[in-house]
Amino acid sequence: MPKKKSIYDNSHITANSKQLDLLKQHFPNCFDKEGNFISHKMEEIVGNAGLELSRESYSLNWLGKSYARLLANENPCTLLREDKVHNAKEENRNSENLLIKGDNLEVLKHLVNAYSEQIKMIYIDPPYNTGGDGFVYSDDRKFTVEELQKLAGVERDEAKRILEFTSSKSNSHSAWLTFMYPRLYVARELLREDGVIFISIDDNEVAQLKLLCDEVFGEENFVANFIWKKRTGSNDAKNLVSSDHEYILCYSKDEETTLKGIEKKFENYKNPDNDPLGDWMADNLTCNKTATERPNLYYPITDPKTGIIYECNKNRVWAYEKKRMEKNIQENKIIFPKKANGSPMYKRHKNEVKSRLKPISTLLGDFLNATATKELRILLDGQHFDYPKSLKLLNILIQQSTSTNDLILDFFAGSGTTAHAVMALNAEDGGNRKFITVQIPEKTDNKSEAYKAGYKTIFDITKARIEKATEKLNDKQGFKIFETTPIFEGYLDDLEELNEKTTLFNGSELSTDELETLLTTWKVHDGMKLHEPLVAIDLGGYVAYGSSDIIYFMEKSFNIKTLQAFITKLDEDETFEPSKLVLFGYNFDSKHQREFKEALKNYSNKKSIELDMVVRY
Ligand SMILES: C[S@@+](CC[C@H](N)C(=O)[O-])C[C@H]1O[C@@H](n2cnc3c(N)ncnc32)[C@H](O)[C@@H]1O
Repeated sequence: MPKKKSIYDNSHITANSKQLDLLKQHFPNCFDKEGNFISHKMEEIVGNAGLELSRESYSLNWLGKSYARLLANENPCTLLREDKVHNAKEENRNSENLLIKGDNLEVLKHLVNAYSEQIKMIYIDPPYNTGGDGFVYSDDRKFTVEELQKLAGVERDEAKRILEFTSSKSNSHSAWLTFMYPRLYVARELLREDGVIFISIDDNEVAQLKLLCDEVFGEENFVANFIWKKRTGSNDAKNLVSSDHEYILCYSKDEETTLKGIEKKFENYKNPDNDPLGDWMADNLTCNKTATERPNLYYPITDPKTGIIYECNKNRVWAYEKKRMEKNIQENKIIFPKKANGSPMYKRHKNEVKSRLKPISTLLGDFLNATATKELRILLDGQHFDYPKSLKLLNILIQQSTSTNDLILDFFAGSGTTAHAVMALNAEDGGNRKFITVQIPEKTDNKSEAYKAGYKTIFDITKARIEKATEKLNDKQGFKIFETTPIFEGYLDDLEELNEKTTLFNGSELSTDELETLLTTWKVHDGMKLHEPLVAIDLGGYVAYGSSDIIYFMEKSFNIKTLQAFITKLDEDETFEPSKLVLFGYNFDSKHQREFKEALKNYSNKKSIELDMVVRY
């Protein structure tokens, strides 16, 4: 019996398996036929490109790093379900905005194929691990010491210690790094080549995060560590230092990528003397050098009209050498003062300003938490979420990194500030940016105002804020909701016996809702965007589901009539040109699978087309 194919199969995944596959794919000559790596061949490639081999062994290491790499490589262990009622509403039906409920690592893994290199900007505001913010490491993956030893490639003792901390609700630096690494690793795959990521953080983990990002995004792709002021000051700091700022680390996917900078203002440029060269302003004619440093810039100049001589300041000499200065004087580029003790100025014309942009400062300004909290309190009519980020702060980050049609991702949504800021900026500049935002259904405290107001989870708050912001901004884009949901009971038990003949799981017992959940999960796995619909295709009474490229055969009632109807449609419908067929293996007995495969093979040969068929469990 052939091995059953499943998108959940992790049997071949280790901490390095995907990276090795990539190496093999791109550098097959670096492996011998037993699969051993021939390192000197790789050194040759690198050496021939003129690169030096660095022998420096500086790197970030922590207990759990190999485990984190294994987590980054593993397939998702949930399904994705859509909120059919919400998504069918008129305002949401055609929306490309997404709010997804679930653990973000799972969600990122679901998104990674369809949204690979699609996101222009990611903003995240993860738990800061302050000790008081409730961060503890937890995951549901259960490994034995032996399994972890093998899959993560670590010694027995290390595997034991990793399992101790992953099961002990730790908030150590190692635990935080183990939490962050796989999320950042997968997030990087979603970033466009010209994409950037911004990460909010404070003093507790900024040092760890910087090194982690250097590793995940590459040190050369560090853009800036922005800081912003969060409060006016604390009165009770133990060490009598009030730490009033936070950081936003920014990395790009590619070192050529820049932020947008700030448009220079030209309001000081005027043309009072009808200068044929256009608007100008009086600018400084000196530079910040002394006569000793720049003797060639130290000389007197004469106004040709009055004959008045202007001495050079020996602590701040002219900006131009004598020859250039003479040319400037000749071309009327120097404004001489009326009095001999005044300072000559340079007549800078607007058209000689090289760039209309100036860089954005890393000091972003004041965005007080108190103000952001108040704004949200008014919007949600109550104090339901502590410390949301400021809309204005997000506005700057989005403006600096996106154009009007870009896709923006925040996978630690909290109250949904990023989604709100995307809509607000669209309203401001007529843009059509879209957002994807992810929030785990973390329970609110049952004594909290949020809980009493009906927000049982933070996700409920995220959803409410996006709805209220939509209303306030009169935004017509809507948003769709999806959520991760556990894989059906018994489903994985069977997959663990991948080579067994017995089929423990009975596909026909899946409800329509469950089949739709499988379809949603599979379509995004196969590269379709979550908002893209699958249409029902009638094949002589059997309903298949498809896009222009891929057709899913989920239901059990497939028979010879369906097959004939499918071939007829291929022949007669010119718009019907799928390249891949996916059969839900549990609903196809081996006879039908064989018939389908044979018929397709004959058809593809006859028509010289490529039609791939996958039986998936
Ligand atoms: C600091 S808050 C973000 C606040 C947000 N920037 C705002 O302005 O409202 C971090 C959020 O991430 C959520 N979170 C933590 N771990 C998560 C996970 N594994 N998956 C998804 N969300 C998570 C928390 O529930 C919390 O709401």
